[in-house]
Amino acid sequence: MFAITQAKFIKFKIVSSIAFSIVLCGSSSAFADSGNGKKLFSERCAMCHGTDAKGSGPLANKSEPPTPDLTRMAFKKRLLDYPGVIVSSVILRPNGDLIPKTLRENGVKLPSHAWTVKDFRDLNEYLTGVILEK
Ligand code: HEC
Repeated sequence: MFAITQAKFIKFKIVSSIAFSIVLCGSSSAFADSGNGKKLFSERCAMCHGTDAKGSGPLANKSEPPTPDLTRMAFKKRLLDYPGVIVSSVILRPNGDLIPKTLRENGVKLPSHAWTVKDFRDLNEYLTGVILEK
């Protein structure tokens, strides 16, 4: 109950701050940033996580464990308790070789990417938005 209320509040904050920055900055930077987060997610994550973050991508069931549904309440709660969980899952790779191995075994080649702090911020903002709107 509390988590739902909190999620709604945070969603409101995110939506209103995005709306606010669009109003303040005009079209350029606000759109460019969310576009970068979406692009990174589509190119490097969605083949497993799906564009809806529900674990609906073509490779979602090719690993053990399979790709989790990140829109479930359990993960939303973790995200609200610790907003760094998305970025740390990319940087720290807590599941070792699982992701590179799954990509390799399914013939998916990801070009290497020199992540910037801005990339992490944009990805985090985009994916948090996708998860909390569900
Ligand atoms: C090859 C498929 C695959 C790709 C590509 C992939 N993931 Fe995952 N992801 C998984 C699997 C499988 C798990 C669950 C792993 C586990 O439980 O050890 C997971 C877990 C996660 C979690 C939950 C971590 C937690 O602590 O509960 C997040 C967040 C996440 N991935 C984000 C991303 C992001 C962001 C990208 C792109 C930069 C990405 N993933 C790319 C398969 C993938």
